[in-house]
Amino acid sequence: MINGMVKLFKALLPDVMKTAFYPCCSLDIEEPIRLLTGYVDKIIFCDLNPSLRSRWTHILKNITDLNLPEIEFIVGDARKVCEQLTEIDILFYRRDSTGEGGSALFVLGDMILRPLLKHFSSDGGLIFTDGSNSRGGNFSKMIRRNGLIKHGWKFSTTTDQPYFEEYGLWKISVVMLEYQVIKF
Ligand SMILES: C[S@@+](CC[C@H](N)C(=O)[O-])C[C@H]1O[C@@H](n2cnc3c(N)ncnc32)[C@H](O)[C@@H]1O
Repeated sequence: MINGMVKLFKALLPDVMKTAFYPCCSLDIEEPIRLLTGYVDKIIFCDLNPSLRSRWTHILKNITDLNLPEIEFIVGDARKVCEQLTEIDILFYRRDSTGEGGSALFVLGDMILRPLLKHFSSDGGLIFTDGSNSRGGNFSKMIRRNGLIKHGWKFSTTTDQPYFEEYGLWKISVVMLEYQVIKF
């Protein structure tokens, strides 16, 4: 119901309230805020570790040169949190692993990507990622020439790649298949 209302609201006012979701963020707060400024109005950071809370607050307090977007921190398991999200427009995800200190969550694998897609706007969205914790070749297919069609969505790299050279982040468009425009 709430999701439906958010969708209706966005359809009527397409330029309002774009939201990014960054699961397993740890202390990676400031740079993503800077990179996502201009793309979204709200960023939802999520991590399982409750001891990060005070350090998140400290980092935020020290960002004084920016008009901050709305920031939400969620302490919790990203698998559960992604079920409870309302609408998101951007997935931001990087520098995770299956090794020590990593979440071992395959955010770019079907088990998490698929439920996350339910929260993407039908107008489509973006993924900014370095490809960490992909599974089933999802990431390498997303960035290949023809992209990836999966779960009713098309993933492909955008022509602009503003964060690749400096940050190793790919910008990937996420388009609902029925909304694809085919040009000849
Ligand atoms: C390798 S660190 C992520 C580093 C961060 N992305 C960066 O760029 O600095 C992995 C993080 O995932 C968090 N984590 C582990 N399991 C998780 C889960 N199930 N849900 C959410 N966060 C989780 C850990 O607490 C840890 O902070």
